[in-house]
Amino acid sequence: FADRKNSFGPNIEIESEWRPFKAQIDTFMGQDTQWRAYPIVGGEKVKTDQTHAIKSPYDHSQAVGDIDWADQTTVAKAIGLAQAAFPAWSARPTSERADCLDKMADLMEENYPELMALCHREAGKTIQDSIDEVREAVDFCRYYAQQARSHFAEPHKYTDFLGQDKRAQWKGHGVFTCISPWNFPLAIFTGQVVAALVVGNTVIAKPAEQTSLIAVRAIELLHQAGVPGNVLHLLPGDGASVGAPLTNDQRIAGLAFTGSTGTAQLINRTLAARNVPPVPVIAETGGQNAMIIDSTSLPEQVVRDAVRSAFASAGQRCSALRVMFVQKDIADRVIPMIKGAMQEQSVGLPYLHSTDVGPVIDQKAQTMLLEHIKHMTKVGKLIAQAELPDLTNKGTFVPPTAFEIDSIDQLTDEKFGPILHVVRYQARDLNTIIDTINQSGFGLTMGVHSRNETTCARIANRARVGNLYINRDQVGAVVGVQPFGGQGLSGTGPKAGGPHYLQRFATEQDL
Ligand code: SER
Repeated sequence: FADRKNSFGPNIEIESEWRPFKAQIDTFMGQDTQWRAYPIVGGEKVKTDQTHAIKSPYDHSQAVGDIDWADQTTVAKAIGLAQAAFPAWSARPTSERADCLDKMADLMEENYPELMALCHREAGKTIQDSIDEVREAVDFCRYYAQQARSHFAEPHKYTDFLGQDKRAQWKGHGVFTCISPWNFPLAIFTGQVVAALVVGNTVIAKPAEQTSLIAVRAIELLHQAGVPGNVLHLLPGDGASVGAPLTNDQRIAGLAFTGSTGTAQLINRTLAARNVPPVPVIAETGGQNAMIIDSTSLPEQVVRDAVRSAFASAGQRCSALRVMFVQKDIADRVIPMIKGAMQEQSVGLPYLHSTDVGPVIDQKAQTMLLEHIKHMTKVGKLIAQAELPDLTNKGTFVPPTAFEIDSIDQLTDEKFGPILHVVRYQARDLNTIIDTINQSGFGLTMGVHSRNETTCARIANRARVGNLYINRDQVGAVVGVQPFGGQGLSGTGPKAGGPHYLQRFATEQDL
């Protein structure tokens, strides 16, 4: 990966760079710009009679656009076409498929302002989050293109103990279903789809219901980048009407899913019940992510990293910090500083430069999170709550809130939003703390703040998490640099944006 450069995007702190860029975004921000989107099957838009309006999370009176959901006929047609297209697509040279990914990366960069406007308006993402979203999508394309060229283009050789050479070649499985979440509506959506495509699968993508408009734009760009219409299809809709048949159908040869642990378990049960050979599943799910802070850490750095990890993206990252363990000896310094930093968090309209925390995705999420805050107010001790702007009747805002609690056991499941829980611990209980975190069953990210190398090594050894971050924040994994993915209830691996990801989308066949 030595010759690769990660994409950067505009620097919002450099006025001369940001101002003209922002002016381009603004051309898509008015109510006069709305998107009209449909399922895309065989390269054609398919009109159905199930039209759904998408409203902005920060202002429900603002329409972003309308989208038709796929009906059963459309689902059946997409699967048939994807299956028929597989032999020709998988026979194409890997380099040709990789070229489509590189072209897709370029096209996303050319369409940055529109994609950012969609991130703001459809997903409620802040400026920096929207830039990071497009950057990650671009990085996935360039990284997987390069991985495919390096490892999938030519047969590889094994030599057995008699000195006989054998050759094997990676090949796609067939029709891959890709089901993606609303919290990274472009990056994760694109990452799954291009990974499956580049090794020779044909793909049917089902985006999250909340963020299907940006997915439509991504599919249009992928087709423009050279992926044939019959190879890649988009079926917007809900889990029951689109996700279920895309899991149930006997012709589905593999499935990539990012979303809740419960849905991943349902997918596994559904796939297992089919009377066909088992197929590969790549599931990335949630986390009950902890940060452990010992008495040697630097409080200023802890506060900066904890606040970013817990509240950036309104806490709607599967990597986000949920439970912070602070050693008792330092807790009375760190906790008031967290409180101070939270009072400085500006909650507001996501497209404003001054906003740190935007809205949560929808009313269902808002209700669940406000219920949790209510419950924690009874069982925990409120540390701080950021102020809400006068927008609460318009959009789905939730104030960043922190509570002190006695134990991680007081939390049953992941609460996907800007709520931080703080637990004090005694140095002698460190092993027990790590064991309790492990016992949650999740294993996605963990942060450690300590200047004691032995402590860092001890935690790294004992913790069962996919991504461990030492003396920094624990969100924002960079493609190719910090491959991302967990274990246990947090997912199957392999890690996205890492050197082993593409292999799961392919099968190795001797020649
Ligand atoms: N990959 C994201 C992060 O690292 C989470 O999905 O924050």
